[in-house]
Amino acid sequence: MKERLEQIKANAVREIQKSDGLAKLNDVRVAFLGKKGELTAVLKGMKDVLPEDRPMVGQLVNETRESIEKLIEETKSKLEAAEREFRMKQEVIDVTLPAKKNRVGHRHPNTIALEEVERIFVGMGYEVVEGPEVEYDYYNFEALNIPANHPAKDEQDTFYINDEIVLRTQTSPVQVREMEKGKLPIRMIAPGRVFRSDEVDATHSPSFHQIEGLVIDKHITFADLKGTLAEFAKQLFGEGTKVKFRPHHFPFTEPSAEVDVTCFKCGGKGCRFCKGAGWIEILGCGMVHPRVLKMSGIDPEEYSGFAFGVGLERIALLKYEIDDMRLLYENDDRFLKQF
Ligand code: DAH
Repeated sequence: MKERLEQIKANAVREIQKSDGLAKLNDVRVAFLGKKGELTAVLKGMKDVLPEDRPMVGQLVNETRESIEKLIEETKSKLEAAEREFRMKQEVIDVTLPAKKNRVGHRHPNTIALEEVERIFVGMGYEVVEGPEVEYDYYNFEALNIPANHPAKDEQDTFYINDEIVLRTQTSPVQVREMEKGKLPIRMIAPGRVFRSDEVDATHSPSFHQIEGLVIDKHITFADLKGTLAEFAKQLFGEGTKVKFRPHHFPFTEPSAEVDVTCFKCGGKGCRFCKGAGWIEILGCGMVHPRVLKMSGIDPEEYSGFAFGVGLERIALLKYEIDDMRLLYENDDRFLKQF
């Protein structure tokens, strides 16, 4: 019996020393000490041992078991330490590697263009004001001399909330709101979102932005309007930029004009950018109609003024040479990060 136990112990020691991983070591433990293990088999055979020998054999079995267990424990600690060491080496952090860059976002091309326009007009003493996007039909149309049955109303496909309330189709209603306040003179620009029931294409969107301008004071003439917009065009598109006023019709201004600027790509000679014209249309303007002044409580005999309205996207597209308005709204990072 003694030899058998020593044999088992020797085998166990050999197997333990051969174990090169925790899983293998566990297999060894099960093979010798487990329920069906070799040592357990010896214990089961105790009934065949003479009763007087049993204490001695029992002690021997226990000693063998203890020494195998001890060796397994020691080996387990060593293997664990080795595995930890190995993992640490694998996971080592190289502090000299360049850090991942945090990308900071930046302003949208519309915002950059708006801030540029605001800078120019604030520099000329204008105030920046805002009006509601959900607007009364009265402010959006009626008070701007566009009565219910006026054909000009057809030109702006409108989103109606109900008979009296619309999503504003233009920033012009902010003119009326400012005039109604009764504080004169007025020198303001009003940027903001406007809405039209338009299909999306390269130059149309159901939601876009305009910047409205309004000046009301005594003795304001068309010459003031011309000088102001000429200065605006120069600051926005470059010193050499010229403006051209083409007669046009807007219900709320009389006379009215559309303004073209010389193409800042070719300087007016005609190129692909301006489609050979040498000129690019940028805005609508005019002298505020006396009826509009009167409706807002201003005496047209004493005061006069001019107004203009410019599309913000139009400026952003021109300034950054973007050929499709949809790009401004898709928020594709690859596009936006170019500006
Ligand atoms: N509100 C006009 C539009 O959306 C643009 C405009 C033209 C505004 C002439 C004005 C103006 O203030 O005087 O087409």
